[in-house]
Amino acid sequence: MQIRDFIYVIFVLTVLSVPSACVHDTLLGESPMIDSMMTDTMILDTMVTDTMMDDTTHQDTMQGCDTTVIYFEQDVLPILRGSCAFAGCHDAASARDGVILVSYEQVIRTTGTVPFDLSESDLYEAITDDDLDKRMPPEPRDALSQEDIATIATWILQGAEDLVCEEASDCDIDDVSYGEDILPVLRVECQGCHSGSSPSAGIAMDDYDDIKSLADNGLLFAVINWDSGVSPMPKGREQLSQCFIDQLKKWIDEGAQNN
Ligand code: HEC
Repeated sequence: MQIRDFIYVIFVLTVLSVPSACVHDTLLGESPMIDSMMTDTMILDTMVTDTMMDDTTHQDTMQGCDTTVIYFEQDVLPILRGSCAFAGCHDAASARDGVILVSYEQVIRTTGTVPFDLSESDLYEAITDDDLDKRMPPEPRDALSQEDIATIATWILQGAEDLVCEEASDCDIDDVSYGEDILPVLRVECQGCHSGSSPSAGIAMDDYDDIKSLADNGLLFAVINWDSGVSPMPKGREQLSQCFIDQLKKWIDEGAQNN
């Protein structure tokens, strides 16, 4: 059996054995049966990961980005991180309804996404549900934009794979701009928790002035560089890329301008 077929079979088994993403908290909290199913699924998941690591990495890196292809790491994950993976919702610690939206493995393991099939994919149903009580993100947050919904739908229809393309990961620190390099990352990685009426730790990052003062007092770089003595950010996630950390340093060294 091809490794890809094998992954697919395990994937289908995983999807079948995970309770639907719409299972309610109470169910998850109270049913030992479902709890043990979840654990089994996680063990299965670990096996899959090990198998894949032995062979080749499961993440397919493409040379050059094809505009007709949706790349999970560049196109889909930022939407999920920016709109869903917050404390109290779908970060790893909160895992509301068992759903965690911070990495490919977790998205596949916890969302009931069925490759090539929108109508069977709970993730798609959740973001398009007409019933506002069930729609994700729930009120008072806005629904995802039509563009984001289309991106996720196309990703599922293209097979829900873990694709990343090379171009976007090229690192350029010669010419760093707030609008193009810094803000887009902070928007996805920080604003979910640090904006609005009650930002985490009382630290707001809603606009340039907020971010500029965090940059000036050294805290912005310290938490992103995981310096000792401060809480590593983004909380509960992997450290941001070395490329971004280098760009951030350059931007701050040059006066943290609104450029
Ligand atoms: C999932 C929610 C979440 C995300 C995402 C997040 N933070 Fe935080 N942040 C927190 C919480 C909660 C605290 C309070 C300290 C703690 O619990 O570790 C905090 C604390 C901080 C602090 C104060 C740290 C200290 O030691 O004084 C800073 C600065 C900060 N965050 C910046 C950021 C930046 C920059 C990002 C994006 C790179 C980010 N945060 C992403 C939740 C988050």
